[in-house]
Amino acid sequence: MGNEYSPVELAKGVYWVGVVDWNIRDFHGYVTPKGTTYNAYLIVDEKIALVDTVKSHFAGELIKNIQKIIDPTRIDYVISNHVEMDHSGSLPVIMRLIPDAKLIATKRGKDGLCHHFNGMGCNEWNFEVVETGSELSLGKKTLMFIEATMLHWPDSMHTYIKEDKILLSNDAFGQHIASSHRFNDEVGDVMDAAAEYYANILMPFGSQILNYVDKVGKLGIEIDMIAPCHGVIWRKDPAQIIAAYGRWANAETVPKVLIIYDTMWKSTERMGKAMLDGVRAAGVEVKLLNLKKNDWSAIIKEVLDAPVIAVGSPTLNNGMYPSVAGFLTYLKGLRPKGKKSVAFGSFGWGGGAVKAVENELIAGGFEIMEPGLQIKFRPNKDDFKACYEMGDRLAKIAKISKVK
Ligand code: FEO
Repeated sequence: MGNEYSPVELAKGVYWVGVVDWNIRDFHGYVTPKGTTYNAYLIVDEKIALVDTVKSHFAGELIKNIQKIIDPTRIDYVISNHVEMDHSGSLPVIMRLIPDAKLIATKRGKDGLCHHFNGMGCNEWNFEVVETGSELSLGKKTLMFIEATMLHWPDSMHTYIKEDKILLSNDAFGQHIASSHRFNDEVGDVMDAAAEYYANILMPFGSQILNYVDKVGKLGIEIDMIAPCHGVIWRKDPAQIIAAYGRWANAETVPKVLIIYDTMWKSTERMGKAMLDGVRAAGVEVKLLNLKKNDWSAIIKEVLDAPVIAVGSPTLNNGMYPSVAGFLTYLKGLRPKGKKSVAFGSFGWGGGAVKAVENELIAGGFEIMEPGLQIKFRPNKDDFKACYEMGDRLAKIAKISKVK
């Protein structure tokens, strides 16, 4: 039996040789219900280059894919665009096959690989450090390297095949989709998956993304295809994903309110539903997102283009519900820009959750629109009215926020 998929040719002599991970459902905390792929690329010319590898336990599949095209011992160059182990995990296996090959990385890439693979052969690896604009001729094809600092790690790099106008962009422009197809025109909902990927992986790095887009513009390169290391390849209209990154990096929003909450005895949920009615009556899109019923990664995708977010928590032990605290910790780390927010929740004895939520929102860079709304035990008629009216105010702010 061979492995599941054969290499796919992107252009003459340029092959996808990666693997499809159908079963992964948790990618260091990012929930991946559609699985993912680890895309590696083989460029066959007078010299042969392998760009990126795959997770270590898929090394055998990677090698089998390469063997369908060439004898892997013929590889002259291995290009490591990124240190993280989903792309460099198979390097020790590959480098044992080709100990004389050059291993190309950025300065930080070399440093990261040497630290990670200390004692695993890296002392013998024949590194060549490159920077933006460095070129490598394979014969008829020329590779140009572009540092992509903080897209999404300090070491990240992209490899551009000049003659084919293909950008091998590693994590940037990826999506977590496992598919038997390799190209964006063959599957649906790619932009949706790309937005979720951006929100969960790249949202903290908006200014660096804008710098990168500016840098690529100044290099004057044309891009006919963008081949990331996760998901499908942008063969049809690759400019669309660059434009989307520009919008997301600029924190552009649509008129939309999110009500994100957890609840103990349904009182906080009832508050959220009354708030939802107020937003809806004002004609603005609104989503009610229970933290126990929705994947946090999917909620973060909604946060990406929402200008206004209400966060609700019941009080437990004078503080936030643990699920709300956990979510806000995750959200804070992703540093969404330009968001307005309010806190709400119910309490039984002394309260404390609403203030704690506000403090976390402030720490995460959110602007607090108004003091939080807290009610005792079950919301009564006046409480529902207050929630409804708060929803109306949230909607009005969402309407005038920066829009796409
Ligand atoms: Fe930063 Fe796909 O690893």
